[in-house]
Amino acid sequence: MAKSKSVYVCQNCGAESTKWIGRCNSCGEWNTYVEQRIPKGPVRSSTLERGAYAIPKPLKDVQSDQVTRIDLMNEEFNRVLGGGIVPGSVILIGGEPGIGKSTLALQVALKINKNTLYISGEESPQQLKMRAERLGGGNGACHVLAETSLQAIITQVQHAKPQLLIIDSIQTLFSEEIESAPGTISQVRDCAAQLLKLAKETHIPVILIGHITKDGSIAGPKVLEHIVDTVLQFEGDSHHLYRILRSMKNRFGSTSEIGVFEMTGEGLREISNPSELLINQQPPDLSGSAIAANVEGIRPILIEVQALVSTAVYGTPQRTSTGFDTRRLSMLLAVLEKRANFKLASKDVFINIAGGLRVDDPAIDLSVISAILSSTVDIPVDQHTCFAGEVGLSGEIRPVNRIEQRLGEADKLGMKRILMSAFNRKRIDPSRFNLEIVEVTRVQDIPKYLFG
Ligand code: TYD
Ligand code: MG
Repeated sequence: MAKSKSVYVCQNCGAESTKWIGRCNSCGEWNTYVEQRIPKGPVRSSTLERGAYAIPKPLKDVQSDQVTRIDLMNEEFNRVLGGGIVPGSVILIGGEPGIGKSTLALQVALKINKNTLYISGEESPQQLKMRAERLGGGNGACHVLAETSLQAIITQVQHAKPQLLIIDSIQTLFSEEIESAPGTISQVRDCAAQLLKLAKETHIPVILIGHITKDGSIAGPKVLEHIVDTVLQFEGDSHHLYRILRSMKNRFGSTSEIGVFEMTGEGLREISNPSELLINQQPPDLSGSAIAANVEGIRPILIEVQALVSTAVYGTPQRTSTGFDTRRLSMLLAVLEKRANFKLASKDVFINIAGGLRVDDPAIDLSVISAILSSTVDIPVDQHTCFAGEVGLSGEIRPVNRIEQRLGEADKLGMKRILMSAFNRKRIDPSRFNLEIVEVTRVQDIPKYLFG
């Protein structure tokens, strides 16, 4: 009898090898190879099966069908998806355990006025009921099922024909056709591919929940990103109240969208104006704090940046930041040292972005520098001043995008003055804003504007 074949699969990146190896050649991780048996019999294509050959046709002859998106009754979620969920699309919501993925999905299932099927591999129907009661109950159109077998789920979906399917979570599913444990790469990949096929055939939109840990090491979401239509990342610090839903990939909308939520005792509350929450908690007359006029996605948000500069106790000064790239912080400190002659080499520098947010917009540079300067000389920055500008290596203040929106938001929230790059000046009409616009060209000029 022929021996059944097996293959070793890296649980981190999905690479395959005929032998066990200690370190993956493709992603460099150690001890990630797990043996998997290849079932005998004809090879089955796990993705869409090839049917009759299709003939290429001119793009102009292809009928475009106007899709009507399904309203999720949740403005922030809708916005991130690009205006609701497209029928037949598969959406992956990834995030660390405990961040609120199940809460968000159940909340949508309870609120939307469509037939939904919520499949949980982690919680029993009783537990879901308790959570639903906490979230304020539902409208009766939400069905729950505790199931982990993919084949059983597909049968149920074909029978019940829901208008929205939620799977919590993809790591708990297993396909009977694959001989490895739930949560392994091949299970996750195959289950997702079959659900994609189901979604495309039945036009039922599917929301998949997937766990990732801080270093992204658990099998799943990384290999799923290629399969699904939309990848959303639910992030935030579980100790903070704010949660950001960020779109990482979207076949049906832009990827520069974010949704902001607050975790409350009754579930996630939508925050339509995040700036008000993020800047109003600042006590006046404290040094080391500056407000950035940022743009997250396409939405302007005012964010408070806090800095603490103190004399280093140990030989090597510490440079730590929360919510801001540490390498960028080192660069800004080097620019301050070299161009503005601020001696920071023997100082510890800590940066914190208020509210537990993580910021990538380079326009925050100017406020980081201002907060550092303010903490160094221990003089507060005026509360009604905000900042928008990127800092270059030669100490120049570079222009930033969407300056009008930033000015509009600053004006709306009662700011009186904004420091920005002089190069941004010609693109705006200052008479539209009730703001004093200060143009800055070089880092060395900032102290003059801040402290007179
Ligand atoms: P959960 O949605 O289960 O997280 P995930 O599915 O991402 O693992 O819950 C996240 C946390 O939120 C949990 O620790 C309890 C808390 N929580 C609230 O604070 N308020 C609520 O109304 C609910 C339902 C949960
Ligand atoms: Mg959960």
